Amino acid sequence: MIVSYSIPTIRYVQGDPDPKGLPLIAFGVPLHANPDKLPRWAEAARRPIAAGDFAGRTLETALFYPAGDGPERLIAGGLGSGKDFEENTLIRRWATRIGREARRIGVNRYALVLPNNDKNMTSRMIAAAQGTVLGVCHGWKAPTRKRVEEVILHGSAPTEKGAEAVEAGLRLAEATLFGRSLIMEPANRLTPADLAETAKRIANEEDIAVGVLDEKKITAEGLHALAAVGRGSDNPPRLIFLEYEGSGVGGPSVVLVGKGITFDSGGLSLKSAERMVHMKYDMSGAAAVLSAIRGAARLRLPLRVIAVIPAAENLPGPHSYRPGDVIDTFRGLTVEVDNTDAEGRLVLADALAWAEKQFKPDEIIDIATLTGACKVALGRHAAGLFGSDDLIAERVIRAAEDCGERVWLMPLWEHYRKEIESDAADLKNVGNANVGGGAVVAASFLSHFIEKTQWAHIDIAGVAWADGDYDVGPKGPTGFGAALLLSYLRKRALR
Ligand code: BES
Ligand code: MN
Ligand code: ZN
Repeated sequence: MIVSYSIPTIRYVQGDPDPKGLPLIAFGVPLHANPDKLPRWAEAARRPIAAGDFAGRTLETALFYPAGDGPERLIAGGLGSGKDFEENTLIRRWATRIGREARRIGVNRYALVLPNNDKNMTSRMIAAAQGTVLGVCHGWKAPTRKRVEEVILHGSAPTEKGAEAVEAGLRLAEATLFGRSLIMEPANRLTPADLAETAKRIANEEDIAVGVLDEKKITAEGLHALAAVGRGSDNPPRLIFLEYEGSGVGGPSVVLVGKGITFDSGGLSLKSAERMVHMKYDMSGAAAVLSAIRGAARLRLPLRVIAVIPAAENLPGPHSYRPGDVIDTFRGLTVEVDNTDAEGRLVLADALAWAEKQFKPDEIIDIATLTGACKVALGRHAAGLFGSDDLIAERVIRAAEDCGERVWLMPLWEHYRKEIESDAADLKNVGNANVGGGAVVAASFLSHFIEKTQWAHIDIAGVAWADGDYDVGPKGPTGFGAALLLSYLRKRALR
């Protein structure tokens, strides 16, 4: 792995911190707070707040060095008027901001005092723990100064509730960080075979089942679309699956399918240099499902989760599939290839159909950096969501609200299916470019490959890579989807 990160320990303690000898206490300050209501250990912040030098604006921070035998440092983190974001988002970002400050300063441990509020206590604690870990682990290189090794979260909730929420938040952040680290691996160091090895390693560590189909078995099984996409590269394709069996008594079984294109050059329909530059991240869906199933195992969630990854490298070469080719699929439908750069829907088509038949799950969710069109539609702040029905879509939306990874529901109407009718085959892989709606057309294409199972599709092309530092992470792969899927599984298991 080229990325090093090390997750801090997070403990939960009910009540106020004992300030003596603590390297740092961080706490929240609402807009224009009453300075007389500050706790004793925050004395040093009283005058700056009273003078209005620190007003408590959203995500504003200030660092103080109190005299005496209290904490060595204080960080006041502004909470604003509470109107800028939803509460969870605010708490998460607030905790991340503080975590990043603590990392920058180089304290090895600190206390984080949660703002008092009896409403939504659990989800606020989850968000605070999640944000803290993301903040403390911000960046791709090891910190230049001391690492933050321990954070103690102080709140009013009872110990057991707090500890549980803190663990959930930590696992969400851990999933994100793990996902990011996989995506950061360049395509020369993470081929489809390497991705399979990584899956095996995870399975070993978490004691879950794993299987891998190599290129021969992929063809023998009838996954011809996956085989076709992978044929242009010397690094042959793999079909990877992991099974976590936490069901006990009949919880739902969920299949997660993640697009695992380790590099997308476009194939013979070659991308331009500018569009190709970050295309190692075309396996972000795979990273999300791997991280989520790992997280589910770590949280011992009581349900059955299966992760399926069609992994391939999309390159031009003498063996590449071509525009105009008609290929078979696992489902039996034939597909005319209009554009070899629309490879994601081809490998997903086979993986979805194969997973449905193989595992007969209650529901299937796929996640993929599928279309540039989704980036155009929603930009970098929300993934495109598609659902076979409102119930599954609603569940994904709720999970998204809980973890801070936003989704927006898009349509899956019959009309769009007409766009991909072919004269030479049952379907073609790209619609008429002039009519737009590329993200919807791609989702419609996928819908042909699910027979009857409840299904959701998440297009993360716009959100999987950040062009600069953002609220909860650095420039580069965001790991989007790992927390979302884990949050989804948690909620699915709680029911
Ligand atoms: N991996 C890309 C989608 C993508 C584009 C992700 C930009 C992230 C940023 C996908 O395989 C692709 O190339 N899609 C084509 C489809 C087109 C040929 C119909 C696209 O979106 O341009
Ligand atoms: Mn492509
Ligand atoms: Zn792609």
